Amino acid sequence: MKMSVIGCGYLGAVHAAAMASLGHEVVGIDVDPAKIESLAAGKAPFYEPGLPELLTENHETGQLRFSTDVSEVKGYGIHFIGVGTPQRRDGAGADLTYVDAAVEGLLPHLSPGDLVVGKSTVPVGTAERLATLIEPTGAELAWNPEFLREGFAVKDTIEPDRLVYGVRSQRAVDLLDEVYAQAMSHDTPRIVTDYATAELVKTAANAFLATKISFINAMAEIAESTGADVTQLADAIGHDVRIGRKFLNAGVGFGGGCLPKDIRAFAARAEEIGRGESVAFLKEVDAINLRRRQRVIDLVKEVLGGSAYQRRVTVLGLAFKPDSDDIRDSPALDVAVQLHGLGADVVAWDPQAVDNARAAHPQLAFASGIDEALEGAEAVVLATEWPQFRDLDPASTAAQVASPVVIDGRNVLDPEAWRAAGWTYRGLGRP
Ligand code: UDX
Repeated sequence: MKMSVIGCGYLGAVHAAAMASLGHEVVGIDVDPAKIESLAAGKAPFYEPGLPELLTENHETGQLRFSTDVSEVKGYGIHFIGVGTPQRRDGAGADLTYVDAAVEGLLPHLSPGDLVVGKSTVPVGTAERLATLIEPTGAELAWNPEFLREGFAVKDTIEPDRLVYGVRSQRAVDLLDEVYAQAMSHDTPRIVTDYATAELVKTAANAFLATKISFINAMAEIAESTGADVTQLADAIGHDVRIGRKFLNAGVGFGGGCLPKDIRAFAARAEEIGRGESVAFLKEVDAINLRRRQRVIDLVKEVLGGSAYQRRVTVLGLAFKPDSDDIRDSPALDVAVQLHGLGADVVAWDPQAVDNARAAHPQLAFASGIDEALEGAEAVVLATEWPQFRDLDPASTAAQVASPVVIDGRNVLDPEAWRAAGWTYRGLGRP
């Protein structure tokens, strides 16, 4: 099939490359010339495992090309919309500027029978509104949310754990089935529904995941006041298959380009439709999440005798999670910035996210490697659980720092081993 993908960020670029590798002929469109130049040269403009290989392979076969010129979508029957829906500047609600611009840009190039497929995360009601713009061209709209996780984006796109089609016709279902034929195994669940449900599936899934993380982080707060261990608590309740152990890792909290802004946009949308009370708990979810960052900062001050001012603090990790260079709403970066704001002498390092972090916060000091980051540290904060941090050897690391004090913001180190090697160990929600 011939298809276009409008928006080549974390979602769109992976989707375009994955569709090409499933055998389709794909053109990816983005307004950012630098991004398009990089993708057209077969280079990923951000860190995502597996993406560079797909780009090179599809670039060579000619299945995949990129352009800044939206008129090149003409003659491609399927058009995916994968642009961002960031948080609005006023803080409330999703900014739909890019979605609206993408649809407006597409309209003159649509032909009767084309299928426009929304993948961006949008407030419920958006698809209905966009359909009124698209249908007069003779094209049709489907809403097909994307559940990919950064770091696993290629796998999640090529082997989705479920497909959701928000549609108005059987023809749209048939076309989407054809699009995903190579991605679907015989037992991939596929939910065919209306626009509103499809939009809400994505919003509800992210709200649930965020709530699960904040639930365990709330238990961490209780554990901190009672001497209990939240990691053992999570293991124990996670054995109940109705609960499950995944997304019960207490720590410095969730971040990234999805969960934080999606729960805020959901709360804002619920207010708009007069249902604010239904998801009022999401404000609590957000508040608990942000309190965890403060807890890490308080622990740093505590281990340093009451103040971080002019004390040498190492922050390991800047990305919002491992296997990503994404610093959007990153708890790790926020902790580094806040400590710097308190006058601490912060040196930060991350295997992939230093360039992005430096561009956003040039005031911070960045090491060029883990050894340089650790040298002279009076306190080390593990803020993103990259494997190279989890695997640090407590004995040799103790020899590198000025004072062996570690705050394990992700609860991934073995407290006994680190204490045995002479470290003062502080986790979150752990005695
Ligand atoms: C998320 C959803 O998982 C994905 O389905 C959706 O399409 C987009 O949003 P992503 O933002 O890539 O994906 O990251 P995810 O792996 O969900 O992690 C989100 C944040 O939660 C990270 O900051 C992570 O560190 C944190 N987290 C996750 C925890 O703090 N504890 C956990 O137990 C799990």
